[in-house]
Amino acid sequence: MDWVDAGSAQALAKAPLHEVKVGDARVAITCRAGEFGAISGVCNHVGGPLAQGTLEGDYVVCPWHQYRFHRLTGAGEPGYEGDRVPSFAVKVEDGRVLVSARPVTRRAHLPHEPHPLAREPVRAPGRLRVAGISTTIMQPGYPRYSTSEALLECALAHAATALGAETQLIRLRELAFRHCEGYYSRAAKACTWPCSITAMDANDRMDVVYEALVHWADVLLIATPIRWGAASSLYFKMAERMNCIQNQITIANRVLIRAKVAAFIVTGGQDNVQAVVGQQLGFFGELGFVFPPFPFVAHSLGWTAEDMERNVAYVQASEDLREGSRALVERACATSRQLLADPAARASVERGGRKAHPNS
Ligand code: FES
Repeated sequence: MDWVDAGSAQALAKAPLHEVKVGDARVAITCRAGEFGAISGVCNHVGGPLAQGTLEGDYVVCPWHQYRFHRLTGAGEPGYEGDRVPSFAVKVEDGRVLVSARPVTRRAHLPHEPHPLAREPVRAPGRLRVAGISTTIMQPGYPRYSTSEALLECALAHAATALGAETQLIRLRELAFRHCEGYYSRAAKACTWPCSITAMDANDRMDVVYEALVHWADVLLIATPIRWGAASSLYFKMAERMNCIQNQITIANRVLIRAKVAAFIVTGGQDNVQAVVGQQLGFFGELGFVFPPFPFVAHSLGWTAEDMERNVAYVQASEDLREGSRALVERACATSRQLLADPAARASVERGGRKAHPNS
């Protein structure tokens, strides 16, 4: 067996994990109670740097999504024994740690079923599909009238009855889902599609939003209240979880949002409609959505005229706002029908985020 000098045993024993190069291979050297181990430094999942992770007992924990591999054998944590990273032979001679020039066991992947969201987004035949997402928060047991949600319901009802569309309403507050945990901040490729949280946590229900956005809807209507001059905190919780959709353009040159239209409903007791919609146009534009002319309907009472006692009654009585919501979904559906009917137009918006994307 050929051996490669990985460094002084004294130096390598000072920390539980080190990364060394053995030929071209990145190797994670571990030391526990004076015993050295060596496994591949490249994680089985999506290539995370194992040697930059942590050592917990005999397991090297990947810093990206916390997959675990035995530090001596490379075997995945109990229950995933068939999944393994290569392991290397190790010995200490004359105070030097020597690692076999080639792995002594091979990499193996358990056959993991791909997540249903991972399928290619291809529009299935059928009627126009309009998804509405309400980002309003309220107590589950004691519901209240939400002005933005009421206008969204009005728009969806119009889409179903007058425009012949299939519709679905997602009330974000009814979905239990985790905050974005900043995988992109660890490394661009640590932010995966489907989102690694969704893939690893069956209780995380962002899959409902992802399915609607990426695979189902032609038209997306987002409704939000104004909170301190911005969209609701639930809106931003959802938006941060959509990093993985945008990031596919950046890291994989892959546009997931294909020929889809977004429009917005924004209401609040105080003003700042333009700032809220400005953020939404920027964000959903970066995801790949296109917008109809006049892409939002909004209502606010203004800084000096804030009157929350009468705000709900005002919206309930406003035929203008209901008509505005119906007109909004009509414009959005008309834009969508044009896109779907014109392959050249579709191709141009789908191409928009590729190579030429300024962040790529
Ligand atoms: Fe290692 Fe995801 S757990 S790359």
